[in-house]
Amino acid sequence: MNPMSTSNFQGRTAVVTGAASGFGLETCRLAARLGMNVVLADVMAEPLAAAAAEIEALGVAVLPMRVDVRHAAEVEALAQAVRARFGVPHFVFNNAGVSAGGLIWEHGPKEWDWVLGVNLMGVVHGVRVFTPMMLEAEKADPDFEGHIVNTASMAGLVNMPNMGAYNVSKHAVVALSETLYQDLRLVSDRVHAHVLCPYFVPTGICHSERARPEDARDAAPPTHSQLVAHAVGAKAVASGKVSAADVAQFVFDALCDKRFYVFSHPKALGPVMTRAQDILRGERPSDPYAARPELGAHLKATLRHP
Ligand SMILES: NC(=O)c1ccc[n+]([C@@H]2O[C@H](COP(=O)([O-])OP(=O)(O)OC[C@H]3O[C@@H](n4cnc5c(N)ncnc54)[C@H](O)[C@@H]3O)[C@@H](O)[C@H]2O)c1
Repeated sequence: MNPMSTSNFQGRTAVVTGAASGFGLETCRLAARLGMNVVLADVMAEPLAAAAAEIEALGVAVLPMRVDVRHAAEVEALAQAVRARFGVPHFVFNNAGVSAGGLIWEHGPKEWDWVLGVNLMGVVHGVRVFTPMMLEAEKADPDFEGHIVNTASMAGLVNMPNMGAYNVSKHAVVALSETLYQDLRLVSDRVHAHVLCPYFVPTGICHSERARPEDARDAAPPTHSQLVAHAVGAKAVASGKVSAADVAQFVFDALCDKRFYVFSHPKALGPVMTRAQDILRGERPSDPYAARPELGAHLKATLRHP
């Protein structure tokens, strides 16, 4: 089954977490247009139901499940339900994520748990439950090919200031995904790992609070740096020129080419090179706003003189 073409998607099954909005919803739309069975998992019940109705109306089989990816048992139940309904899935998109910014020492303990719980442990659980299923299917069926796509971020490759826990979570997803790739190469030829690293793209990501469960809320109100991070992030995301639908297409192109790293803005990788050079030369981390000094100056002024 090489190279992969659109005919390889027809009738296969895609599991998408964070399916009710943004990249996840666009991934479901594209999967449906390719004739796939679509499993939609999300923590927001009403948007999930609306997304599932929309995808079903495209004429494919759907399985919507309300899942909080922070919880191992809920992702395990998702995997069992998928297997019972459609068999082992061929594509798993561990995509659910939330954003939280601010100075790194100002996140409360519940915020750390929430951001790492969704962005990192959600991916951990997806990898933990779906990879063994795919490896088993690969052994049993010579035609089986599996793909696991983890959504990280450019924030998993560079560290912009005032993005605290988000940077930490996304670096961990890149590390997890690169290790998954290497581990799969030890034991498998037909189960593949990929990592998506988008830059700023208009989605609901700056409104992650809407998907924040009660148990993940700190009692303290947001700090000044957190409010600033939210405003800066919302502006950057809203002004993104690449759409979430474009990103979903880039991901499917990468699946066909078996590319590991998937970028929404390949021309914006300069800071990744700068970071690598800083490390190799033993330099202190460069100013991430070197190319846009006015933004760095604004952030510094706002945080020093609230
Ligand atoms: N939009 C961007 O600029 C951007 C850039 C880099 C990375 N990302 C990443 O892309 C992924 C998708 O985000 P998006 O931009 O489409 O945002 P989005 O808010 O539109 O979609 C995220 C979805 O994840 C769901 N979700 C949140 N917590 C969950 C939980 N505990 N369990 C299950 N589902 C949960 C939300 O309900 C929502 O439907 C995230 O991992 C995000 O970090 C986004």
